[in-house]
Amino acid sequence: MATTVLIGVQWGDEGKGKIIDVLTENADLVVRFQGGSNAGHTVEIGDQKYVLHLIPSGILRAPSTCVIGNGVVINPLTLLEEIEGLEERGIEVRTRLQIDARAHLVFNYHRALDGARETAKGDKMIGTTKRGIGPSYADKANRIGLRACDLLRPERLEAKFRAQSKLYNEMLATLGQEQLDVEAEWAALQAVAPQLGALVTDCVLTVQNAVAGGDDVLFEGAQGMWLDIDYGTYPYVTSSNTSVGGACTGGGIAPRQIDEVVGVVKAYTTRVGEGPFPTELLGAEGEALRKAGNEFGATTGRPRRCGWFDAVACRYAVMLNGVDTLAVTKLDVLDDMAELQICTGYTLDGEAIDDMPADSEDLGRIQAVYESHPGWQTRTCDVRCWEDLPANAQSYLNRLSELIGARVGIVSTGPARVETFYVNK
Ligand code: GDP
Ligand code: IMO
Ligand code: MG
Repeated sequence: MATTVLIGVQWGDEGKGKIIDVLTENADLVVRFQGGSNAGHTVEIGDQKYVLHLIPSGILRAPSTCVIGNGVVINPLTLLEEIEGLEERGIEVRTRLQIDARAHLVFNYHRALDGARETAKGDKMIGTTKRGIGPSYADKANRIGLRACDLLRPERLEAKFRAQSKLYNEMLATLGQEQLDVEAEWAALQAVAPQLGALVTDCVLTVQNAVAGGDDVLFEGAQGMWLDIDYGTYPYVTSSNTSVGGACTGGGIAPRQIDEVVGVVKAYTTRVGEGPFPTELLGAEGEALRKAGNEFGATTGRPRRCGWFDAVACRYAVMLNGVDTLAVTKLDVLDDMAELQICTGYTLDGEAIDDMPADSEDLGRIQAVYESHPGWQTRTCDVRCWEDLPANAQSYLNRLSELIGARVGIVSTGPARVETFYVNK
């Protein structure tokens, strides 16, 4: 395993949390490198279900150490709630969690502005999670953000926090929104700062020492390829690099230190929020997939949009990220279907195109070209090896692998840890 970066290859919610949990059996260190509490990573262990937002999913497998890297934006109040929630469930967190000193912070004023801007956009809204992610990354780029290292300097923290709160209250006023109570917000931050400050350190050294010592290090991506700020379906994206480069800029690893890239894909496609989605199924078919896959957001509870597998989008993502191994999740959701469709190409204004267009407006207008595939109509949740998969499920996976250009290394046929197997063919 050595140094592995795991990313979502579609529009998020591919089942990254579950696969991270499976892979962490052998990991010494698990690192989140981008995003914030917009993420919701679900792990089911026995009868226990955990949804992690900021803390790496590896926290559920002691004794691995977990890092929230410099590329993550952290809401101190929700992070403390998440820590306490895990501790209440008997999980040791504080001795195992480190926060990079350079990571930027998210406050309620970011959340308020995120929500206000969405409202102001009307039918042009992005459909964000309203967790303040965009405004916090904007502050980082504008070089006015507060960082985790500020938690260790109370006077500096207060001065910066008050200055930023004033600025945000002015922006909220111009959008006709209520003012935040700066005294109450500061009091809440002041109360949590020392507890989180105790976890702040230089995590680049943690990562580099682990790599130098031959430890297995796992980088846990959030969101997915097509939500990437640079390569995704802009402007319907999140505000960080969800692609593999994010692990280098946000997780403290050099490109040549990465041994393997694992891409997680659902056996079909989902998307939450607005933006183009070429293989979306509207009406009864989409509803059936949503029901079978229980496709409701782990962070916001919103119904996810559902559609067929898009091999064009996945092939591009595999190419760009150098994905070595695919982890295919939710195969079981397709168990009852008599016939499946795989999108193998697009047409735009009647012309065939083989690759994902860079312009999202074009992507919004393309027609998907499908090839049909017979279903297997057999339960797969008890399957524990490739040989026991129904023949049509094997050929479906083989076809996905062939179309997108990476080997299927892991198959998941249910939310539980045990409902997973490695493919060694
Ligand atoms: P993430 O954000 O990529 O970690 O994915 P989410 O946790 O948001 O969404 C994935 C959902 O699918 C969660 O409810 C998981 O418990 C569930 N899940 C993961 N793998 C499988 C699988 O193979 N089959 C089924 N039926 N559910 C799965
Ligand atoms: P995980 O890690 C799916 C989507 C939002 C919206 C867009 C921008 O669980 O896969 P943001 O709040 O980030 O500014 O919203 O990105 N989005 C996600 N969709 N899974 C996620 O995370 C997401 N995080 C953000 O729905 O379309
Ligand atoms: Mg999720």
